[in-house]
Amino acid sequence: MPIISWSSAIAINDVDVDTQHKKLFGLINDLHDAMSQGKGKEILGKVLDGLIDYTKTHFSYEQNRMQKENYVGYVAHKAEHDKFTAKVVDLQDQYKTGKYSMTIEVSTFMKDWLVSHIQVNDRKAFGK
Ligand code: FEO
Repeated sequence: MPIISWSSAIAINDVDVDTQHKKLFGLINDLHDAMSQGKGKEILGKVLDGLIDYTKTHFSYEQNRMQKENYVGYVAHKAEHDKFTAKVVDLQDQYKTGKYSMTIEVSTFMKDWLVSHIQVNDRKAFGK
C-alpha cells in the first residue's frame, strides 16, 4: 500500500519538476513497500540507493535551473537540499555499516520532508 500518493494539490504546474516529483513519490513507495514486506538487507539497500541517487539528480536539476534563472532564493533552497541529502546519506551509511536497521520512520521522514519542501520551496521557485 502506497505511503504517498500524487494529487493535483501537490502539483506546481511545471512539467519537468512535477514529473521528477512523481518519480520520487514512486521510489519512496518502493522503499516503504520493501520495508513493509520485510525484504532483506540487500534489496532494501538497493532500493534506498536508488532513491538517494535520484534525489541527488533531481536536486541538481533544480539547482541548475535556479542558477540559470538567477532565482533570488537559490542559496536558501540549495541549503534545504544539502541538509536533507546529508541526513539521508548519513542514514544510508549507518544502514550499510550495520549501525542502523531501517524502519518505516525513514520513508515517513522522506515523505513528510518532500511534501513540505514541494509545497513551500519548490512552489516558490518553480510554481506557475
Ligand atoms: Fe523538488 Fe527542491 O526539490
